[in-house]
Amino acid sequence: MAFKLNVNGHTSTVDVPGDMPLLWVLRDVLDLKGAKYGCGIGQCAACTVHLNGKPAKACLTPVSAVGTQAVTTIEGLSADGTHPVQVAWQDIDVPQCGYCQAGQIMSAVALLAKTPKPTDKDIDSAMNGNLCRCGTYVRIRKAIHKAAELTTNASAKTVQVAGKE
Ligand code: FES
Ligand code: FES
Repeated sequence: MAFKLNVNGHTSTVDVPGDMPLLWVLRDVLDLKGAKYGCGIGQCAACTVHLNGKPAKACLTPVSAVGTQAVTTIEGLSADGTHPVQVAWQDIDVPQCGYCQAGQIMSAVALLAKTPKPTDKDIDSAMNGNLCRCGTYVRIRKAIHKAAELTTNASAKTVQVAGKE
């Protein structure tokens, strides 16, 4: 069956069974390998993408349920790794093996969009379902605070520059 998907701002038509999980479509049909297969049963969040800006587990989302929702994968955050969350992740050197990190970043981006200055408690509750077998949780929390700071500084600079004009 053919499905028209809006992925990272591009429309792609895929011819796949309607019950195929979005994760399979992204990785095997569209060749977007950022979202990872961890468990396939909604328990690890390594496959996290955004549907209309909200985090969703791609392993549990049949392609037929996506409809016109905008799908964003880690590849869609920035062309060159310069999204503030990606920059913070690099500054803090968060990943160990890296396997869970695309999912962690996508959950962090969604959290910061909703809560630009999250507390440790906000972070722990938003990131609760994203498992990391390497135990990078402390660095993840630090990187989210750093990303919040980078985002605030960037908007302050924009306001300053706008004020000068
Ligand atoms: S692979 Fe989707 S939750 Fe684990
Ligand atoms: S960095 Fe290895 S699983 Fe998270």
